[in-house]
Amino acid sequence: MPKITILSGTDRPGSMALKVSEYIKPVLESHGANVNIVSLEDYPFEDIIGGKYGQDIPSVKKFNEELLDTDGLLMVVPEYNGSFPGVLKFFIDYLPFPESFEKLPIAFVGEAAGAFGALRSVEQLQMICNYRNAILFPERVFLQRVSKIFDPEKGITDEFQNKLMQSLLKNFTSFVEVNKR
Ligand SMILES: Cc1cc2nc3c(=O)[nH]c(=O)nc-3n(C[C@H](O)[C@H](O)[C@H](O)COP(=O)(O)O)c2cc1C
Repeated sequence: MPKITILSGTDRPGSMALKVSEYIKPVLESHGANVNIVSLEDYPFEDIIGGKYGQDIPSVKKFNEELLDTDGLLMVVPEYNGSFPGVLKFFIDYLPFPESFEKLPIAFVGEAAGAFGALRSVEQLQMICNYRNAILFPERVFLQRVSKIFDPEKGITDEFQNKLMQSLLKNFTSFVEVNKR
């Protein structure tokens, strides 16, 4: 049974990223994955203020270990100012280098209020994960106008986007099983 961690990629209280993550979890489980959600709302940002790069920070270490003790990572990413949230870059910049994403299967789900569904965020994030030698899963989903096409109770109400999401979740589970490090 592959272990998959879902990263909710913002610390915004009440985010759609966390709601979409919670929707995704049981679907991945139905495909045989062991799933946990890690939210950047729980990241110890107060402990990295002041430029603590390279220092041993127990709270950051604990957060990172919980996240990286996995066979695969699914990032749920909003679009903020044409990119992914700054807090997500902070989180990446405080990951142990270079091993964190090395040969780790990673999938991406974008979600945004706008018409492009965080396409820009995901593509920028893919560049970084590629630089960090992750194994990028080729199927991606972009939930545009997210509050219109996603409902925490009903799921994705747009038929086409729902089809893409179900395909990603099913195929990513087997991709992780095959490619786990
Ligand atoms: C700081 C900030 C910047 C944002 N910039 C964009 C943007 O560039 N494009 C867009 O489509 N939505 C933008 N939004 C709206 C988000 O897409 C919207 O909040 C959506 O629900 C996804 O974010 P969430 O996961 O925080 O809910 C922005 C929201 C915030 C808080």
